[in-house]
Amino acid sequence: MNVKGEMLYEGKAKQVFLTENPEEVIVRFKDDATAFNAQKRGSFDKKGEMNNAITTLIFEYLKEKGVETHFIKQLDAREQLVRKVSIIPLEMVVRNYTAGSMAQRLGVEEGIKSPITIFDICYKKDELGDPLINDYHAIFLGAATREELDQMYALTARINDLLIELFERMNIILVDFKIELGKTSDGKIILADEISPDTCRLWDKDTMKKLDKDRFRRDLGEVTEAYVEIYERLQTALAK
Ligand code: TMP
Ligand code: ASP
Repeated sequence: MNVKGEMLYEGKAKQVFLTENPEEVIVRFKDDATAFNAQKRGSFDKKGEMNNAITTLIFEYLKEKGVETHFIKQLDAREQLVRKVSIIPLEMVVRNYTAGSMAQRLGVEEGIKSPITIFDICYKKDELGDPLINDYHAIFLGAATREELDQMYALTARINDLLIELFERMNIILVDFKIELGKTSDGKIILADEISPDTCRLWDKDTMKKLDKDRFRRDLGEVTEAYVEIYERLQTALAK
């Protein structure tokens, strides 16, 4: 039995609850969505359920490929049991194609395939709007050491390779994504948080239709449908 205890933390899209085991917490996925540093707020049907189910399938796939994650098991439609880690306050962003903030900042079109994998890091600090920083800033801030950053980039690159391959099987282009890493009580850096259409840009290869949170950010409609589509394609790809 995993008895849900006190709420430890509430974020924009998820809540975290204590359990009887100090090494484990329960993550609950909400239907709420925010964008642009929470200036835009909304909620859409099935988002929590879909992100829970999608993160479960992706973390199980990554585990099978040798990537250590915080995921233990799915508990119900909205909740999963995970290992308690201390989240490193850096968002690891990977870009395979131009889009979003990078396209805007550099004044380039969206959808240009990059000849190299582009890594960005953002400092997780809501009051500052999660600013883009570099390795020197991260070390200065004490968020990670040089050695930890090297490990984090290597892990993120490996996850990118595995995700590109998985989404390819779903006829989807993995444009970019964000992951968060956490440290276990014994100091190991592992994948935490979620991987879902909230945290990735996913474009259908044939139609280039956006199947991710940009449908909400940009008011494109059919938001729930896009998340369901990703879930269904994932199920099919992983059943093979
Ligand atoms: P960006 O283009 O806004 O910098 O986003 C890059 C990728 O990171 C995109 O797939 C969305 C994801 N992302 C998050 O998951 N959370 C965030 O807070 C931001 C800003 C981006
Ligand atoms: N989740 C972030 C926010 O609340 C940004 C985003 O995903 O666009 O603003």
